[in-house]
Amino acid sequence: MTTATCGLDAAVAALDGARRRTLTLTDLGEDDLTRQHSPLMSPLVWDLAHVGQQEEQWLLIRSGRGVDPVFEPEIAALYDAFQHPRSTRRQLPLLSPAESRRRIAAVRGRALDLLDRAPADDPQFVAGLVAQHEQQHVETMLATHQLRLGRPPMEAAAAPAGRPAPRDAVLVPGGAFRCGADPMVEPWALDNELPQHWVDVPAFRIARFPVTNGEWLAFLAAGGYDEARWWSPQGWAHRQEEGLVAPLFWSPDGAGGWVRRRFGVAEEVPLDEPVQHVCWHEAQAYARWAGGRLPTELEWEKACAWDPAVGRRRRWPWGEEAPTAARCGSGGVMLRPAAVGAHPAGASAYGVEQLIGDVWEWTSSMFAPWPGFTPMVYDTYSAPFFDGGYPVLRGGSWATDLVAMRPSFRNWDLPIRRQIFCGVRLAWDTPADNTAADTGR
Ligand code: AVJ
Ligand code: FE
Repeated sequence: MTTATCGLDAAVAALDGARRRTLTLTDLGEDDLTRQHSPLMSPLVWDLAHVGQQEEQWLLIRSGRGVDPVFEPEIAALYDAFQHPRSTRRQLPLLSPAESRRRIAAVRGRALDLLDRAPADDPQFVAGLVAQHEQQHVETMLATHQLRLGRPPMEAAAAPAGRPAPRDAVLVPGGAFRCGADPMVEPWALDNELPQHWVDVPAFRIARFPVTNGEWLAFLAAGGYDEARWWSPQGWAHRQEEGLVAPLFWSPDGAGGWVRRRFGVAEEVPLDEPVQHVCWHEAQAYARWAGGRLPTELEWEKACAWDPAVGRRRRWPWGEEAPTAARCGSGGVMLRPAAVGAHPAGASAYGVEQLIGDVWEWTSSMFAPWPGFTPMVYDTYSAPFFDGGYPVLRGGSWATDLVAMRPSFRNWDLPIRRQIFCGVRLAWDTPADNTAADTGR
């Protein structure tokens, strides 16, 4: 098997995997698909057609195979995210669910044809990009399902048990590390993960685990939502305006405690599970109250991927071996993050656990290009969001597919967003006398 064949097989498998999830999550009646379940989200039928419209745009039209397109320009325009904010998409003359399915299948047929003929201009990166785009919309559709009343059209797999382990921090000594993706290792790395470059990161400490619901309850009990001193001025203003008192989907249980709604079912808040559905402002307030701070995304990536013993990046936090259920969550099958301690086999070189596959972790960094950034074919994927208004999230949640999850992957959102599967990991400065330089270079 040649390298090209491997790449082709991987591209076809990635496209196929994304489509299976899309069709599963849109296996609902017309009303459920066309309804706006929340002003924060698109109607599901918009995502359904959008993934195919974008596939046609980036894989077919941009490579000169756009003659007689499946999505005519007037229809394609309905699925342009920049033209139509999510809250307005319900009002558009969208394609019906059946017509959406027919058209995205027609685009897929042409895409597979194109890949099959394996032309010299290497559409495999674009296929990987398209698969990642569709998987990101799958995660978005899961967020819509979480907001929607009722059960999603899938059964949840059992989540692995946690283990009792110290909720401590590890020291990451100061020194340079290689930031960003190596395209030889990650051929589908997106433009914002490139180019790879050396960065010096001063010593810091980072929590072994994400913050749990139990820890968040202590913040609530201590009145953390009621004291302006823990919050940034903008964060406090937002907390006041929105009346934030707990993570999204939590409500009082009537006996002084809290319950949460998860995919249509009310349940006890599990104490050992990473907290989800807190916005960046809440994450910052919690960190301040707890005597820590959010990590920068450079700190996060070093703690995740750097192996100081050999002065090289690892492909995954634990090493080069492929992900398994013992090492991390992924793929959206559990409908929840794993309890802390569930993945000791997934620890990074520094001993940090559950960096990928449980919750997206807010960082203190605003999304910005790495030095030498060059936009990819989908040139409005990253660049419009480099304006300083979007904090970066790292790691990938339980809902994220492996095709869009890696130590260099960068996600971003507005600082007020809570419907995504996001949580928090703390970091701390380290006194200067505690900074034995590592062998980073
Ligand atoms: C990278 C997750 C912020 O969902 O807005 C999907 C991904 N971009 N379609 C988003 C994306 C265009 C993006 N995030
Ligand atoms: Fe999109």
